[in-house]
Amino acid sequence: MTNPKFIPYTDFELLNEKEMLKRSKEFYDKIKKRRTIRHFSNKKIPIDVIKNCLLAAGTAPNGANMQPWSFVVITNKTIKKEIRIEAEKKEKIFYTTRATKEWLEALEPLGTDEHKDYLEEAPCLIAIFSKKIDILPNGKKVKQYYAQESVGIATGFLIAALHNAGLATLTHTPSPMGFLNKILNRPEYERPFLLLVLGYPSENAEVPNIRKKPLNEIADFIE
Ligand SMILES: Cc1cc2nc3c(=O)[nH]c(=O)nc-3n(C[C@H](O)[C@H](O)[C@H](O)COP(=O)(O)O)c2cc1C
Repeated sequence: MTNPKFIPYTDFELLNEKEMLKRSKEFYDKIKKRRTIRHFSNKKIPIDVIKNCLLAAGTAPNGANMQPWSFVVITNKTIKKEIRIEAEKKEKIFYTTRATKEWLEALEPLGTDEHKDYLEEAPCLIAIFSKKIDILPNGKKVKQYYAQESVGIATGFLIAALHNAGLATLTHTPSPMGFLNKILNRPEYERPFLLLVLGYPSENAEVPNIRKKPLNEIADFIE
């Protein structure tokens, strides 16, 4: 028998409705300004800001509290270049042979192609890995539960935290991403989830003019 331990939950902040509305609107107003940036300046980012944002990501809900994620923060120029070279190789194959016509049509408004200058231009990359298993300090292997969902939520927290801290991001998924294990020396049981590019937008950075679906297209209310 296990003996779960509980502590009083005293961190909850009970708000009145007016305050709830105000805060929800403020959050929406802030988060709707986030955009995926594909042109970065080379201005450095304070590492403590990244650390705080990673700590925020690490608070995400996750399957059985296994916290099945690893974040690898890369500011080293040589490693960034290695990643760019490998990513561009994969992306070239993707854009010329692997992607279906339908997929290329969906990507068209974004103006993306196999060139990934930002992997070297941006001051920082965060490679996010999802663990298939974990190895405890005593060497015991443990299963992970809902790892992909959990890492997706943590990544969402991370992107929101970075945006809140005044940084721009790009969610990049070169496909396949196994080369990240090799370059970053990660064990086989860590599966690359995505590569987050972060920094400040370059001076004349532009973003695709895309539309976000209104509430009635994304939500149903059943009373
Ligand atoms: C899982 C995932 C994978 C993505 N992969 C890429 C990518 O490889 N390259 C890229 O330029 N953008 C990528 N994006 C960014 C999307 O294209 C972008 O989020 C979408 O067009 C909406 O634009 P917004 O982020 O500015 O709102 C990805 C986003 C997600 C969530």
